[in-house]
Amino acid sequence: MEQYKTVAIKNEYSNTDIMSAFQILNTAGIQTELDDNNIILNFDIVDMKYIEYQNKNNRLIGSVLDELLKIRSFSSANGKIVFKSFNKAKKVQNKDENKKKRLGYEYYQKNFAKNNNEISEKVVNKIHCANSLEFLQTLPDNCIDLILTSPPYNFGITYNNTSDVNVWEGYFDKLFAIFKECNRVLKNGGRFIINIQPLFSDYIPTHHIVSNFFFKEGLIWKGEIIWEKNNYNCKYCTWGSWKSPSSPYMKYSWEFIEIFCKDTLKKDGKKDDIDISAGEFKKWVYGKWSIAPERKMKKYKHDAMFPEELAKRAIKLFSYKNDIVLDPFNGAGTTTKVAKELDREFIGIDIDEAYCKTAKERLKEADTLFNHKQQKD
Ligand SMILES: C[S@@+](CC[C@H](N)C(=O)[O-])C[C@H]1O[C@@H](n2cnc3c(N)ncnc32)[C@H](O)[C@@H]1O
Repeated sequence: MEQYKTVAIKNEYSNTDIMSAFQILNTAGIQTELDDNNIILNFDIVDMKYIEYQNKNNRLIGSVLDELLKIRSFSSANGKIVFKSFNKAKKVQNKDENKKKRLGYEYYQKNFAKNNNEISEKVVNKIHCANSLEFLQTLPDNCIDLILTSPPYNFGITYNNTSDVNVWEGYFDKLFAIFKECNRVLKNGGRFIINIQPLFSDYIPTHHIVSNFFFKEGLIWKGEIIWEKNNYNCKYCTWGSWKSPSSPYMKYSWEFIEIFCKDTLKKDGKKDDIDISAGEFKKWVYGKWSIAPERKMKKYKHDAMFPEELAKRAIKLFSYKNDIVLDPFNGAGTTTKVAKELDREFIGIDIDEAYCKTAKERLKEADTLFNHKQQKD
């Protein structure tokens, strides 16, 4: 018995239409594939309202809706369409009991001190030019709500002050010393979000090694987001053994975002301090974020920034207004700028003076936006 309904649509659409349509369809519950001539859709439960709402003159979305509406065997539940070929019998039974038997994340979770601490006002809402390891050692335990960061990847990117090429063992030793301090300063219930990319050409699975570090530290692995950059540059790089199984080279147009929680998955906060909209929530809990790479790296003179949209999603989805957000590798200050714009408190640390200067200037951009908002209100 088939588990999913499958529909094939002849592929006569532009790459742009396909890329934007796939994101919408995936969010609505449809798995998408391409073969030589067709677009293949696999689905069981589909959020038709979402597709209809997102249908902004994308021709492919129009055709998909036509095809779905032709299917007669469906029922609707909670505003979603359930297509009949979905095989209920295959669904896992006794989920809760099974989870208890397996122990779930309790198998590796460590218990941390429950009490959270205040942090000195002197260090908050500032950019600090320092080595993170030394700076973090000056902060109390359990005082930060959210850490959002992207560490140096050891790729050989030219940062002003630090070398980005080290023997891997030394690289991980340095990184984990800083991450250990981060874990210490994170509040009970706090979240740690790391954008990290393996160096595929060295065959080092950095994202797995980093996740394993947090696993051993006993933080709960909340999940992973694929940051799809739709970066077709990789189309043109090396193929490895062209047209031979001898050693083909794999290509990636995405990066990884790993999310960890300290002690508990639940984070308490005031209802009034929630600022994520229903539409944002629905879109962003889907674990693939299609966001273009930062385009202003030249302007900000930093070669490895993440885009503001990434910071915005991470901060709104995982923290409340007035929470304290820390970036220990703050670079040109994307995290701190966005945190400020979103009415969070923030601390940014970077070892490089020029980057810190840029980060401070970007805080002024956030001020301008704030004043503009106030004038409008
Ligand atoms: C990948 S970049 C972060 C970019 C940032 N997410 C942005 O959007 O601008 C990593 C940063 O870590 C900084 N860095 C490297 N070692 C450091 C250390 N020990 N302490 C503080 N910052 C460090 C580098 O100067 C670099 O700016």
